[in-house]
Amino acid sequence: MIQQLLDRWKEEFGEVWGAKLGRAPGRVNLIGEHTDYNDGFVLPCAIEPAVWILARAREDTRICLVSLNYNERHESDVNDLHRGTELSWSDYLLGVVSVFQQEGYASGGWDAVIGGDVPLGAGLSSSAAVEVATGTVLREMFQLPMEDREMALLCQRAENMYVGVQCGVMDQFASTFGKVDHALLLDCRSLEIRQVPAHLKDTEIVICDSKVQRNLSGSEYNIRRAQCREGVHVLREKFGERICALRDASLDDLEMCRERMSDPVYRRCRHVMTENPRVLEGVRSLESGDPAKFGRLMLESHRSLRDDYEVSCPELDLLVDLAIECRGVAGSRMTGAGFGGCTVSLVERSCLDQFCAHVISRYARKTGREPEIYVTRPGSGAAIVDVF
Ligand code: GLA
Repeated sequence: MIQQLLDRWKEEFGEVWGAKLGRAPGRVNLIGEHTDYNDGFVLPCAIEPAVWILARAREDTRICLVSLNYNERHESDVNDLHRGTELSWSDYLLGVVSVFQQEGYASGGWDAVIGGDVPLGAGLSSSAAVEVATGTVLREMFQLPMEDREMALLCQRAENMYVGVQCGVMDQFASTFGKVDHALLLDCRSLEIRQVPAHLKDTEIVICDSKVQRNLSGSEYNIRRAQCREGVHVLREKFGERICALRDASLDDLEMCRERMSDPVYRRCRHVMTENPRVLEGVRSLESGDPAKFGRLMLESHRSLRDDYEVSCPELDLLVDLAIECRGVAGSRMTGAGFGGCTVSLVERSCLDQFCAHVISRYARKTGREPEIYVTRPGSGAAIVDVF
């Protein structure tokens, strides 16, 4: 990837002298889905596939961006940033510039070549990786006095405001704070982080891409958020100010309000309220080296996302069913926003070949699609890479 970036840079901008190289990874969420925007807990880890960006400040105010993945060049002016009617890959970078500006972090013009191997639209947070890689390199080029946490939050805001997806904080935090062989326990209310060792001895983290693009997810995602807000509203009417988010209510509280909410809203709330304790239990099982326990929690999480939150799809359910038919599989679940994208499974290393053969052949036979399988270990978070 680095060589491709350098070659393209030479074609587009000439000498590479003085350029900075930033890298930010994608993520896979082990457990804690649709909890981040409910002030809950998540447990993602950064993965090895990443977005790379080679960038250098210019003397003027032009921003010239080149994408390897799209094989396109986009030019704009730092003093005149606006989103076009169609969302473009460049919006993910310019959104970050724009949000930084709003916060008083001024930057000038710059040139960049960006590329990466995080699959696009597969639910592994390629967009957060682009935003965080951009934030990382902007901070370095223009010497912006910004801490990691603020950067991650501003990247999230860029996605909310500039790209228009009302995502929570999980993806940008995972991409920023990932640590090799660790999962990241994030309290999405306090933003407190705990690095949890996720070195599962003989067990691998296996991602299966259903190859179903998550095209519904933008609008459905925002609908789920609205339903959670509705649940909070009803709970608050009954229990008053102690309820600020679904995090603050118990299942007993929810039962007491069941008649006052629609059935879908009730089930959305129930998913979030059962998922939060699963995350904390999952952390305990990782810490005590018990992948079997963790796997059972993953399955419960999947069922809750399928039946209560209704963000799975037949292909994801099939991948989970095929996974748990295999020997050596502790657990499996959909990961990310849902409606397509990927599952994540814990698979004993010695059973990996059988797992892949079984899942690929059966999935292809039933759906006509070839799933992509990635075996990954938790990787490191965003950084400036010294290659020159
Ligand atoms: C997407 C969002 C995250 C999170 C997940 C669901 O990945 O970007 O903030 O809400 O969906 O857990």
